[in-house]
Amino acid sequence: MADLDTTLRELAQRFEAAIAAARDEHALDEVRIRFLGRTGELTVVRRGIGALPPAERPTAGKVINVAADAMEARLAAARASLERASIDASLSDSIDVTFSGPPARRGMLHPVRAVMADVAHYFSQHGFAIVLGPEIETDANNFDALNIPPDHPAREGFDSFYLRPDLLLRTHTSPMQVRAMRASGPPIAVIVPGKAYRRDAVDARHLYQFHQVEGLMVGPGIHFGHLKGLLTGMMRELFGPAQDIRFRPSFFPFTEPSAEVDVSCPGCGGAGCRTCSGSGWIEIGGSGMVHPNVLRSVGYDPDGVTGWAFGCGLERIAMKKYDVNDIREFVENKPAFLEQLA
Ligand code: PHE
Repeated sequence: MADLDTTLRELAQRFEAAIAAARDEHALDEVRIRFLGRTGELTVVRRGIGALPPAERPTAGKVINVAADAMEARLAAARASLERASIDASLSDSIDVTFSGPPARRGMLHPVRAVMADVAHYFSQHGFAIVLGPEIETDANNFDALNIPPDHPAREGFDSFYLRPDLLLRTHTSPMQVRAMRASGPPIAVIVPGKAYRRDAVDARHLYQFHQVEGLMVGPGIHFGHLKGLLTGMMRELFGPAQDIRFRPSFFPFTEPSAEVDVSCPGCGGAGCRTCSGSGWIEIGGSGMVHPNVLRSVGYDPDGVTGWAFGCGLERIAMKKYDVNDIREFVENKPAFLEQLA
């Protein structure tokens, strides 16, 4: 028994020295194998029990078990302190825990959304309903019902994305005039904000996906003056009482007479620049008195009611409002650009 105690004491000293020398987890694994593994030092001592007189074997077994438990506990403790040390080391290397974090970013409305909301607000104050329509339209609604028959040259003007011979991505929000009038009889006053699509080459003033807001008012005695007054009011609300607006005679198959709506250019204030192609004005939409053929196509009586419609590009309005002279900025999603407008 005295022999065994000595053996274990010496073994414990070697074990302790090995633990103290172990610098990482891998070294600790090796210590474990060296002492407690299948051919480890303590395992060899345990195997020696068989050579002892039978009376001494139980006590010897217990003493060895106690030593083995103590060694396992010591290994676990050493492993834990290595882990702590490595966490501490990595923290002090790369993290200054006293450093304040980056400020949280506030969300905001996209400038096109903000203009859409302003326009919708203005018209809802004047009693207009806000309605939304599908971006995939029948060519019957997008063209035929708007007095643009299949062979009409205006179809070419709207370079369209066709999905099927009879379905396309709407080229304007005007087909909602048709849907809104079919859904309810006159009088009607609606605003339709939404996306429209055209196969336009992208440049400083064109995107192939853009936003429009359509306005439509039909009833007995509605005339061009109502349109002019409301559109002028809307632009002055958006841009201030001094905003210049120009109605320029134009042509649309679904309105007669027709007028283009221009606002003075944000890039140059009217002097002429790249944004406005030198004219000093930016066209933001079309308008006019609803063509009798359109009223007929939805079952309204053109002898009983008249109406006007307009369709404005929301990006164009946002460019004007936020002094942006390249429409592509709105879809590039650069945080610096958007935050500057927030
Ligand atoms: N839909 C026309 C366009 O996109 C604009 C418009 C709307 C013109 C309503 C007249 C009346 O160009």
